[in-house]
Amino acid sequence: MRNALVGGALFAFLALATSVAAEELGASSAKFWSAPQVDALPYDAHGRLIRLGRDLITATYAHIGPDMPNRAQRFAGNNLACGNCHLDAGVKKFGLPIFGVAADFPAYSARAGAEITLQERINSCMTRSMNGRPLPASSQSMRAIVAYVQFLSKGVRKGEKLSGLGAGTMPELDRAADPARGRDIYQARCLSCHNVDGAGVQNSLPGLGAGYAFPPLWGSDSFNDGAGMARLITAANFIHSNMPDGVDYLHPLLSPEEAWDVAALMISKPRPHRAGLEKDFPDLLQKPIDAPYGPYADGFSEKRHKYGPYGPIREKLKEIEKQKGEVSNPNVR
Ligand code: HEC
Ligand code: HEC
Repeated sequence: MRNALVGGALFAFLALATSVAAEELGASSAKFWSAPQVDALPYDAHGRLIRLGRDLITATYAHIGPDMPNRAQRFAGNNLACGNCHLDAGVKKFGLPIFGVAADFPAYSARAGAEITLQERINSCMTRSMNGRPLPASSQSMRAIVAYVQFLSKGVRKGEKLSGLGAGTMPELDRAADPARGRDIYQARCLSCHNVDGAGVQNSLPGLGAGYAFPPLWGSDSFNDGAGMARLITAANFIHSNMPDGVDYLHPLLSPEEAWDVAALMISKPRPHRAGLEKDFPDLLQKPIDAPYGPYADGFSEKRHKYGPYGPIREKLKEIEKQKGEVSNPNVR
């Protein structure tokens, strides 16, 4: 009996030791996380299509931007590049990578309340983050972007979640994130690149499309209010893991608190408005807690959802979830 107990404890200790070692190994090998290499592809038709896809991510404005000489090629409504948010051409850990996601589509989208294809997911960034119009599924640009995302997802099985997806997580504040505090942080840590009034700095080489060396964070050439980056939690984590440009999630420069407040400043500023946002997330219980536009299932205000604190909203949502089934849920249309 005693032996069994000791044995059990020893086994538990060993298991713990191994899992710690595995985690350490995971953390250090994460530094060598590598995406399939586009540059190694042959210059055949498929290799060219994938390269075009990468170009569309890193210099979107030069291929489908609002200043294209040929009107028919104008799809994006702003001069951002997909890669301004999907960093390192979509392969940076916690830089909103688009690595390893192809097999997951078609996937249920809470925002649409329906299953969507990879093309539709891309178009959701086209119409929100890029403030533009959807690319036709059969267009060369869409086929190229899809080929690139599929290439980056080579060997990744459906349902397999690579570590590093999204923008990371950090502790939430127990107060509302504060744009006024964010202003000081912006002056100290962001203004040198993103410029006065968040306007960014354009590329200076003429003839190559009016993209940005430092993209705008708000104003008329930024993402619209229906974009993921217009949500506090997404924006704060993205900024914490990636900004000022050059930091990564292993070496953040801002404290979480600074990231929350400067993200609050960014989302408090004017940006293009997308019509029809009230139709997003038809099941309101699936609406992200930081969606900056109503309606909501929980009775908290738009401002509260925009800036937090989120603890009390989460509690309320849990209560509503518990009652679901007993009472009919008025929030499901
Ligand atoms: C302003 C920032 C921004 C820009 C610009 C942007 N996106 Fe996104 N994109 C996001 C955010 C935020 C998400 C949601 C990520 C998440 O759910 O973790 C996202 C999600 C995606 C996804 C789904 C990823 C997944 O994990 O399932 C794809 C694919 C995608 N974007 C492609 C594009 C393409 C292609 C472009 C350019 C045409 C683009 N995006 C431009 C911010 C942006
Ligand atoms: C050293 C210059 C630099 C500094 C400082 C900097 N950024 Fe950036 N930021 C960039 C660049 C460059 C990109 C686009 C990255 C790319 O294309 O690879 C970017 C992208 C972004 C994006 C996503 C794209 C967009 O237009 O919305 C956000 C949000 C952002 N920065 C916020 C911030 C915030 C907030 C700060 C201050 C805490 C900050 N940045 C500091 C250079 C900088």
